[in-house]
Amino acid sequence: MNMDVLVSLSKRRGFVFQSSEIYGGTGSVWDYGPLGVELKNNIKRVWWRDFVQSRADMVGIDASILMNPMVWKASGHIDHFTDPMVDCRECRHRFRADHVDAMPWTHYCPATKGNKFTITAGEPCGHCGQRRSLCPDCGKGELTEPRQFNLMFKTFMGPVEEDAAVTYLRPETAQAMFVNFDNVLQSMRLKLPFGIAQAGRSFRNEITPGNFIFRTREFEQMEIEFFVNPNDRVDGRPADEYWHDRWIEDCMAWFLRYGLAADNLRLREHEQDELAHYAKRTVDIEYKFPIGWSELMGIANRTDFDLKQHAKWSGKSLTYFDEERKEHVVPFVVEPAAGVDRALLAFLADAYREEEVRGEKRVVLKFHPELAPIKVAVLPLLKKRDDIVRAAHAIRGDLAKHWRVVYDDTAAIGRLYRRQDEVGTPYCVTVDVQTVGDSERGETGDGRVTIRERNSMEQARVPIAELTAVIRELLDGAAWPQVSARYPAPRS
Ligand code: GAP
Repeated sequence: MNMDVLVSLSKRRGFVFQSSEIYGGTGSVWDYGPLGVELKNNIKRVWWRDFVQSRADMVGIDASILMNPMVWKASGHIDHFTDPMVDCRECRHRFRADHVDAMPWTHYCPATKGNKFTITAGEPCGHCGQRRSLCPDCGKGELTEPRQFNLMFKTFMGPVEEDAAVTYLRPETAQAMFVNFDNVLQSMRLKLPFGIAQAGRSFRNEITPGNFIFRTREFEQMEIEFFVNPNDRVDGRPADEYWHDRWIEDCMAWFLRYGLAADNLRLREHEQDELAHYAKRTVDIEYKFPIGWSELMGIANRTDFDLKQHAKWSGKSLTYFDEERKEHVVPFVVEPAAGVDRALLAFLADAYREEEVRGEKRVVLKFHPELAPIKVAVLPLLKKRDDIVRAAHAIRGDLAKHWRVVYDDTAAIGRLYRRQDEVGTPYCVTVDVQTVGDSERGETGDGRVTIRERNSMEQARVPIAELTAVIRELLDGAAWPQVSARYPAPRS
């Protein structure tokens, strides 16, 4: 599967557009179109439902993006949230120092009178045997020594652009959970272990963004800070270690539940030398993206680093009173941190199939029904028949009280089905002559419509009066063969 196929489908069918495209675009930010926003909202909604709403040990917050700059001093972002960078002295292009050797390089080969070649990363030139020593882009400039570059976006609070007014767009949602720890603890009267969750925008001035929505400068995160008592033991193990493993399992199960193939998912344990400054242990869930195995989300044991740092820099106590032991403790934190955009890319890539149906190519997005942007498309078989069109609009109106439902009569039925397959609509409902009858011939309709299931393309005739209940049953997870067995197939 090629990323270009997804980029092109996303644009053509209204999932993702390049931001400010008519002005030539903006560096690595993307806009979600009419179907993209539905898909993204569905991902956030099921995440919130499964990890916040349904759990007795979790609460949510929605904090502001702009925070007191001291937050970023205490968290270590001002001092440590950096990447090493090198610049080309000739073309001024900037690269991550640790990525340069992994890039293909431009070479003007002296053995071929200076002909220009693009050579695979890590390989020498096949003519002169030289290895890359100059800028991989222009092939002419020396690279500077690596310098640390902070990834936070700086801005100014208030009307004066001076140093005292500098603040930052948050690079992660996590810190708001730490600085609100005591507010949440007191207002909700919580007992450890408990979590605080948040979904929202984060910003990073990435040096090498790219690969569509995989790495962007503005993105959304769904993060949980799960606080545990470090003195507790669960199943004979320190509570933080037990809960870390529990969260790894639960997050993996979540991605499987919403349709990612097990073969495309794996865990990767961070080596000691790559752990973030705050982490005791981190495990990534990786997905086999079109660009190869890459991080989908991370689950870190952040220990008591953050609460202690914020207590130190703010002068406010951020502890929990352990009633049993009659002592104040600083909780440890397990942090499952996922990217919404990256999850969306994984769900999109995993759902994409090209199939051959009766000698023709069918592109289908086999989204889990809960994630599908459109749940039902209502299609009139004959758009010239007012009674059919009227019935179809009425059905759309009824179903749309519950779900995102569209009406389409702009092509023949086969084309309409293909269009819906391509955006992953799990069910199409077709209204035909049989539904409404033919009054000119004195025939009354049977009051049934045809439901077509996306994956099997099988059909069943369901009474309009039962339609909402049947769609609800299917969207709630009932298997199509069981549901459709109760109804006749359409006459062929
Ligand atoms: N609070 C911890 C934290 O932010 P992270 O690994 O830097 O950890 C968590 O980010 C998740 O956020 C990543 O696994 C990824 O899914 C997403 N993410 C991070 N940077 C991103 C970017 N530039 N573009 C898109 N998603 C990003």
